[in-house]
Amino acid sequence: MHITQHASILPVPSGPLQVSRLPQGVAGLTSEGSSLVAPVRLSLIVPTYNEGGNIEKIVSLLSHLLDQTIPGDYELIVVDDDSPDKTWELAQNLTSQHPRLRVMRRQHERGLSTAVIRGWQAARGEILGVIDGDLQHPPEILLKLLEEIERGADLAVASRHVEGGGVSDWSAVRRFLSRGAQLLGLIMLPRVVSRVSDPMSGYFMVRRSAIAGCLLNPLGYKILIEVLGRGNIDQIAEVGYVFQEREAGESKVTWKHYTDYLHHLLRLRLSSGRIGRLRQRLRFPIGRFLRFGVVGASGLVVDMGILYLLYDRLGLGLTRSAILAAELAIINNFIWNDRWTFKDLAAKQRGWRRRIKRLMKFNIICLMGLILKVLLLNLLFNGLHLNAYLANFLAIAAVTLWNFWINLKLSWRVTEVK
Ligand code: GDD
Ligand code: MN
Repeated sequence: MHITQHASILPVPSGPLQVSRLPQGVAGLTSEGSSLVAPVRLSLIVPTYNEGGNIEKIVSLLSHLLDQTIPGDYELIVVDDDSPDKTWELAQNLTSQHPRLRVMRRQHERGLSTAVIRGWQAARGEILGVIDGDLQHPPEILLKLLEEIERGADLAVASRHVEGGGVSDWSAVRRFLSRGAQLLGLIMLPRVVSRVSDPMSGYFMVRRSAIAGCLLNPLGYKILIEVLGRGNIDQIAEVGYVFQEREAGESKVTWKHYTDYLHHLLRLRLSSGRIGRLRQRLRFPIGRFLRFGVVGASGLVVDMGILYLLYDRLGLGLTRSAILAAELAIINNFIWNDRWTFKDLAAKQRGWRRRIKRLMKFNIICLMGLILKVLLLNLLFNGLHLNAYLANFLAIAAVTLWNFWINLKLSWRVTEVK
């Protein structure tokens, strides 16, 4: 079967962000028919977004350098996120004069970190690398990184903060933000971020076997902390480099990248260290539980508000007001849990019938929770003579856990109908 797709244009991988164990022999579908292309030593990803002014120069510099050192044993993969300046098209036009160049144009996913991983997923190299596409990373450092990997390092990082490293004339604000981000990383993820001097670097090589099979889940710009946080990295080498000034285009860093970075650190924190091991052991979905707790808090507000309205303003009896308020709070909680906390599970069981069924189950479980809460409250207050509010708080906490776990396992569990 002949597909006219040229071998240099790469299909975009989808699904989990997981690099396969063995270099994928990629079926290079050319006009001469398909031929499985053997693995190579190095696959270097060049993530680009609006690098039209740099792409030709970076590709020829990298090709020239690698043709001299590892001729025929490398590939360059430009992963472009459908740049408005058509960087992907400019790169494709370069493939005729640079046979080791392949291009991936992503149209349904965006982001630097995932671009790099999708590139690695399509890569055939035993060593996977990444370099910025804007000439701010001096290409010649690649040779030192490669040397370190060949000498046994699992990860070789180009660092601005070791001997021979530095930045060109960065503003004080830029320096402060970069160092501030690093400090935050050291506080939130000491065991990960402290392993390298420049965790913000986006210029490094990693042995494929050190990250193969690991389910990566990065956010934003900092792919290196994802590799450090989820990879099996033992030996790390660092090579000093001076971060250059851009010749064309501009940095894509926005404030959102800083909030993404924070979110990324938190996500890694929750999946590593003691919390991560506890989560693994308990298989306890902490993130989902936190969302359930936020919804529960909103239910508290609804409950109190309705009680005030019915009992205080409309003069309805206390018991009837409390029951109506509790029921409306339960419906509030169901709506938010169905649309947010358990959204992925609800999406697998669409339709009003199933939603009403979930609401009925949720209601019964919450009402049982209410009875449990009153019993616990009395046990703690009358039995253990705890302060009433402390007893109430502990009872609410215990019932929240009950409500979450039973609803997760009963109301939203997807019973596959074969
Ligand atoms: N595919 C893709 N998608 N590429 C992107 C995206 C994106 O959403 N955003 C940026 N890039 C590419 C840029 O085209 C460039 O080649 C490279 O990623 C770095 O982006 P810059 O916007 O130039 O980053 P910087 O100059 O602020 O550099 C900082 O971040 C880099 C990436 O982590 C520094 O910390 C560098 O050391 C670091 O490599
Ligand atoms: Mn840059």
